Amino acid sequence: MSFKDKIVLVTGASSGIGAATAVLFTKEGANVIIVARNEAKLLKVQQDCAKVGNKPLIIKADVAKDDDLRRIIKDTINKYNRLDVLVNNAGIVRIGKILDGKVTEIYDEIMNVNVRAVVQLTALAAPYLLKTKGNIVNVSSISGITINNAEMGIYCSSKAALTHFSKATALELAPHGVRVNIVSPGPVYTDILDNAGITQGFEKVGVVTALNRISDPEEIADLIVYLASEKAKGITGSNYVADNGMLLMK
Ligand SMILES: NC(=O)c1ccc[n+]([C@@H]2O[C@H](COP(=O)([O-])OP(=O)(O)OC[C@H]3O[C@@H](n4cnc5c(N)ncnc54)[C@H](OP(=O)(O)O)[C@@H]3O)[C@@H](O)[C@H]2O)c1
Repeated sequence: MSFKDKIVLVTGASSGIGAATAVLFTKEGANVIIVARNEAKLLKVQQDCAKVGNKPLIIKADVAKDDDLRRIIKDTINKYNRLDVLVNNAGIVRIGKILDGKVTEIYDEIMNVNVRAVVQLTALAAPYLLKTKGNIVNVSSISGITINNAEMGIYCSSKAALTHFSKATALELAPHGVRVNIVSPGPVYTDILDNAGITQGFEKVGVVTALNRISDPEEIADLIVYLASEKAKGITGSNYVADNGMLLMK
């Protein structure tokens, strides 16, 4: 699965699934662009990548801001003059319910990062992906398939939207030879709950898996890199679930 000479852009690469994905693509020979807001964490990921391959380009950016999204693509093209793979991985969880009275605040915050940024970055990247006959992998969630917790309703809605958007984009770009696929993890040990202020861990959000385990980010990275590779040349518009059998428990 060589990605030698390939240019791979990973959003949300400062921790968790995005960081593991950046390291794996680098190990496979890619030049990776790592995007997120936390510079200290990005520098750590850059070091981890440099131990196994090419030193990645850091782009410190907030995907909720249109100017930053434009700069991500501009800086990528200025540096490498091409783009082969876009991994839309940046995502946030927020807790909130209709009866809380502030659901639209949470809606706007989540949708801006989990959906709007992906739509915008896809549109900005598409002309370059058409040139390389590249591909996109979007990191959704099994929360886009099932509602596990009422307090996570807006997050679940964002992931359902992302999954649907990904399939529509797969259909639109297929005639141009550009593939778009989805990875939908179940629970994965990352910073995501801490970042959402959920201190009780996965128990708080009702996680029960058939295999009685929680994934490490590297397991999801394996799937992302596979889908982005030539081995998956016949796969587009597919949603790959990696959830330790959590959906089976429904
Ligand atoms: N962990 C799970 O159990 C799980 C399950 C299903 C799906 N997922 C999905 O997997 C993806 C990765 O999450 P993770 O679990 O690896 O969580 P994580 O460790 O919290 O990583 C999230 C990444 O997104 C970035 N990010 C968040 N808001 C951003 C913004 N406005 N601009 C730029 N970057 C932003 C964060 O970087 P900065 O904070 O540095 O900006 C970080 O690099 C998400 O889409 C998530 O929904 C996770």
